[in-house]
Amino acid sequence: MLDWSDTKPAPLHPAFAPPASDATGLGAIARGAARVTVDEKRMINARADVNQLLPLKYKWAWEKYLSGCNNHWMPTEVSMQADIALWKSRDGLTEDERRMLKRNLGFFAAAESLVANNIVLAIYRHLTNPECRQYLLRQAFEEAVHTHTFQYIVESLGLDEGELFNMYREVPSITDKAAWALKHTQRLDDPAFQTGTPEADQQFLRDLVAFYVVFEGMWFYTGFAQILSLGRRNKMVGIAEQYQYILRDESIHLNFGIDVINQIRHENPHLWTPAFQDEVRSMLKDAAELEAAYGRDTMPRGFLGLNAGLCEQYMHFIANRRCAQLGLASVFAEADNPFPWMSEAMDLKKEKNFFETRVIEYQNGGALTWD
Ligand SMILES: [Fe+2]
Ligand SMILES: [Fe+2]
Repeated sequence: MLDWSDTKPAPLHPAFAPPASDATGLGAIARGAARVTVDEKRMINARADVNQLLPLKYKWAWEKYLSGCNNHWMPTEVSMQADIALWKSRDGLTEDERRMLKRNLGFFAAAESLVANNIVLAIYRHLTNPECRQYLLRQAFEEAVHTHTFQYIVESLGLDEGELFNMYREVPSITDKAAWALKHTQRLDDPAFQTGTPEADQQFLRDLVAFYVVFEGMWFYTGFAQILSLGRRNKMVGIAEQYQYILRDESIHLNFGIDVINQIRHENPHLWTPAFQDEVRSMLKDAAELEAAYGRDTMPRGFLGLNAGLCEQYMHFIANRRCAQLGLASVFAEADNPFPWMSEAMDLKKEKNFFETRVIEYQNGGALTWD
């Protein structure tokens, strides 16, 4: 995570310049063109060849790519035996816990796919920097691993796959969240959409806010808190372990998104108008309200250590943090973090025995034989 606290946006190139270069990297080759210099590289509206990773300009993006690779994991490495026994036992989980768990899984099962599609079909086209694209390719794979996790959970527990994967269309509190995020990406989905005007560039920023800051940076966090709270009570420990791995990945996705938005506004200060800042703040406020409704729906009565009120307080705490990361004023009155144990769950290095639970005898590329 970069420290943006003392960053003073400064114009680096004339505003409103249309893309001067091939943004896809798939156009005609500029034979004999001058070599790319670091100064020519830009986050959006490429001026330099997008096929040249080096020279690196945004080292923070490359570092996140390396961190993502170092965190590689697969859901099938986690044993589901204890979860299967608990799920099938009559008294292992209360009806309230089952409702929360199923809706949580249903939310994530579709959300991982929405995030992946947004990266590949909307963000990638318009983020015209090779080191950021390198990270997006890694992130896209991680989203596939996360989607795989929900397939593995459904298969292990024998859940109704149709019920789970359709919740984002059938459970209003989940549909409302997905629909809210999608409305910010639908313009980018238009093949004719391109950045290069202040209006279009702001539309791209809205997509980044909706998916990186809200979906991955706010809504996922209450989702993680719900499952990790069960795990802390020794319930559904396999799923809780998988969620810890997902949380580790998502915290990098979030920080990448924050760095991308801040770098774009640094290079294009004309986009970050007071009106636009207010709009982003109200997006975060709306998102927190949608999450509060989801909390009431998934936990109508609450249970040990977790209820809709605490989740709403957590969302206010998180929304204020995201505002600070984007250099914006808070949207809610100062709120204490009701789940301080979440920060420990995020730092897996503190979990001394964490990796001992992993199956270590899996086959990697080096172990393959070809005869
Ligand atoms: Fe994910
Ligand atoms: Fe993600």
